[in-house]
Amino acid sequence: MATAGALSVPCLAETPIIADTSLRAAAHAGGRIFGAAVQFEQLDNDPAFRKLVLAECDSLTPELVLKWAAIHLAPGRFDLGPMDRLAGFARTHGKRIHGHTLLWHRSIPAWAGPEMAAPGGWNVLQSFFTAVMQRYGDVVRYWDVVNEPVEPMDDADGLRRSPFLSAFGPDYVRRALETARACAPAAQLMINEYGLEYPDAEDEARRARLLRLLDDLRRRDVPLDGVGIQAHLRLDRGAIDQAALAQFFQELADRGLFLLITELDVREVDTSRDFGRRDQRVAAATRAFLDVALDQPAVRGISTWGLSDRYSWLNEDGESGTRQPGGNRGLPYDSALRPKPLCRAMASSLRTKREFKLPYSL
Ligand code: XIL
Repeated sequence: MATAGALSVPCLAETPIIADTSLRAAAHAGGRIFGAAVQFEQLDNDPAFRKLVLAECDSLTPELVLKWAAIHLAPGRFDLGPMDRLAGFARTHGKRIHGHTLLWHRSIPAWAGPEMAAPGGWNVLQSFFTAVMQRYGDVVRYWDVVNEPVEPMDDADGLRRSPFLSAFGPDYVRRALETARACAPAAQLMINEYGLEYPDAEDEARRARLLRLLDDLRRRDVPLDGVGIQAHLRLDRGAIDQAALAQFFQELADRGLFLLITELDVREVDTSRDFGRRDQRVAAATRAFLDVALDQPAVRGISTWGLSDRYSWLNEDGESGTRQPGGNRGLPYDSALRPKPLCRAMASSLRTKREFKLPYSL
């Protein structure tokens, strides 16, 4: 279902790389791309971090500023300044933006809830999609059109009980994808989902429900190109089941969809000062996941949710929203911007020679 189109997104595979030990070089060696979620202020105020992001990433995911509630202040009124600054940074440095995200139940402007539920409520979504998809179409190739639509535990036929579901019924997913295709015909449209990685009953139910949603969309010829696997790994959930996960990735690929790992990070349990042991555990858990993901030819790349523990959302204090550097050590670079075993594990998995030839161009 992928559409060809003229995007001015740089052709990443052709970027020359000489003796480069970065994650992006490792990703390119295996035919993939690498990215991370960032905030513009981190890049603007922290030159060492900016340098690291420029060296490591092909793709930047806006952690906050492209979300609906951040942009659409009132009907017809948009605050595009913060996203413009990040898009400008990406254009200047030849990076891509990962379009995160159009519809997410946790980022609905307060005014938009009642408007969506009123007659003609789809116009509200339409105007947001049009504003951002046209404005950033030159730097965004992949859009997370719907984020986290599946929630088997909600008992609403496995779709999350969101304001979108209440206002438009289950068909909102199809409508969102069709609206997105009309706004940006050349873009690659995705559903992005979390909680798909572990062998327990909850993730199993979410995997099954996601597959059912994808089948339903496919049957109706809805424009969907790919699936984002968030991959917020958690050490309290135990080990992944590699064979089961490989089978799930294959089931997604069999549906003609490409995959991106979109938000990789690792939540720890151990908060002791034994960083050596903790870092080995984080690296091993990630390696076990990535070796499966990267064995799947449909997986086009990986993004981590942040690049350094200096700015990880996992170190966010729930009450104040502030982030304490350090704390959780679930990203490739520590809070002093030193690479950890996780970084080496990721690079090594990305570089591993695999049997297949990748079927797509970056
Ligand atoms: C998170 C941000 O990292 C936080 O700073 C914010 O408070 C909430 O959103 N899945 C997603 C991301 O798709 O958009 C979320 O980002 C993390 C979970």
